[in-house]
Amino acid sequence: MKITVVGAGAVGASCAEYIAIKNFASEVVLLDIKEGYAEGKAMDLMQTASLNGFDTKITGITNDYSKTADSDICVITSGIPRKPGMTREELIGINAGIVKTVSSSLIQYSPNTIIIVVSNPMDTMTYLVHKSTNLPKHKIIGMGGALDSARFKYRLAEALGGPISDVDGMVIAGHSDTGMIPLTRLATRNGVPVSEFLSDERLKQVAEDTKVGGATLTKLLGTSAWYAPGAAVSAMAQAIACDTKKVFPCSALLEGEYGFNDICLGVPVVLGKNGIEEIIKIKLNDAEIANMKESANGVKSVNDLL
Ligand code: LAC
Repeated sequence: MKITVVGAGAVGASCAEYIAIKNFASEVVLLDIKEGYAEGKAMDLMQTASLNGFDTKITGITNDYSKTADSDICVITSGIPRKPGMTREELIGINAGIVKTVSSSLIQYSPNTIIIVVSNPMDTMTYLVHKSTNLPKHKIIGMGGALDSARFKYRLAEALGGPISDVDGMVIAGHSDTGMIPLTRLATRNGVPVSEFLSDERLKQVAEDTKVGGATLTKLLGTSAWYAPGAAVSAMAQAIACDTKKVFPCSALLEGEYGFNDICLGVPVVLGKNGIEEIIKIKLNDAEIANMKESANGVKSVNDLL
């Protein structure tokens, strides 16, 4: 299993680190445009191998895509991150050009790869990769819901005063401060609906804190987060590499599912060796459907900027 991560910034390096630590890939290629940068990060990470007990070989490359040839999975983290106060959507001007170039360079050397898109605005960048490559739709996957769901579980556990491992929950729709939908109605604490433990008001607060999860961190850190994004990519890549059929909410190209067409939006999918193996259709209530439509309109208006 060869995995390429494009962009050796904080998010890309974190993806490479978590993939390596889980020891399911034989090789990770970290590529960046900045001379020597990916080589440096790769060397630093390789010097953790004996300490962290992994055998994954991490190689750093400056912009030579021939070294990414025959990757099974490619992760695109390239582009600029958010600064405090910025929305993910404001990044489109710079990131669209970068993501387009990166995806065509990857495809040139790995025509059968699966692509995980991380760059923001993520749903629109995922849509752009669909439009600018001829990969089948199940091979292009946007990372957003896996991260937002991890943040949702963190906030739920905090409200419940229990461990995160007892909590399950999912965030669907657009990966934006206003567009994401934490499904509080379906979230559980060890199989019991969280509404048994938390008031409507507290659950609304959990949902609001989840939605601004990325913005909260951007304000604290001065740039966007990297540990949880890296871990989310690694979890998705592991599901693909090990063909586990695990369910994650991911940005997928919709062709009629949930009533949407020609848009990439966060929906629950089954991940396995073919990428997106199934889009799961869950029954949403009227309020959730209305929120999803609003979220889709937001993503469509950003797509129109392309
Ligand atoms: C975040 C970025 C990765 O939510 O979109 O932290």
